[in-house]
Amino acid sequence: MNLLLLGPPGAGKGTQAKRLEDAHGFVQLSTGDMLRAAAAAGTEYGKKAKAVMERGELVSDEIVIAIIGERLEQPDLKDGFILDGFPRNVPQAEALDKLLASRGLKLDAVIEMAVDDEALIERISGRFTCSSCGKGYHDKFERPATEGVCDKCGGREFTRRADDNAQTVRSRLEVYHKQTAPLVGYYGEQGTLNTIDGMAAIDDVARQIEEVVKAA
Ligand code: AP5
Repeated sequence: MNLLLLGPPGAGKGTQAKRLEDAHGFVQLSTGDMLRAAAAAGTEYGKKAKAVMERGELVSDEIVIAIIGERLEQPDLKDGFILDGFPRNVPQAEALDKLLASRGLKLDAVIEMAVDDEALIERISGRFTCSSCGKGYHDKFERPATEGVCDKCGGREFTRRADDNAQTVRSRLEVYHKQTAPLVGYYGEQGTLNTIDGMAAIDDVARQIEEVVKAA
């Protein structure tokens, strides 16, 4: 099954994508993670992307469409995938339709995670991630069971993202409302859109997503 998680920065896309990976074996395809990996590796497009991400703007459509196009060629997606952070505007959504159609694939469901802007700022400012396995946590909403030790892999080092500061978060939200929110109408017209209450607790959000997956 192929899913798309749609929602603003901090909506919980990454958190729920990881749960779907664990529960169903679908593969998370996060363009944000792919761009951060390219930036860390110092590739040519990674260097360009790093500066753009630190301003909270969108990396060029050309780069992200090429990255996703290449990723969709890889053989590990046979049980399905979860798009997280792509597409982010109508041209990317149109390009995705073409990429999927040319590979005989389709999206089984688009899940819009609706969350108020004030809650997003609180979520993003408290976020941290295990440096070894990438499991996400939150200072208030999801702490490791043992302080300082990752629940999933036992790692003891955690990182916070460079673009999770107040100024960049405001730009990211503005970009979301202007460029990404129109995708709600785009997928509404295609008949694949399911809107869930992303303000609920993490387990409740996961239950709502499971209902969509069962019905798809
Ligand atoms: P990206 O990495 O995609 O970031 P984002 O969309 O801004 O989303 P986030 O990762 O910040 O949030 P999330 O929804 O995954 O929330 P999470 O689960 O972590 O993109 C970063 C940048 O890369 C962009 O700004 C852009 O520059 C570039 N980029 C990426 N894709 C691109 C594209 N397609 N085109 C162009 N540029 C692109 O949750 C947040 C926190 O809240 C966590 O701590 C979590 O524990 C907590 N939490 C989660 N759910 C709940 C809940 N229900 N209740 C309470 N707390 C919760």
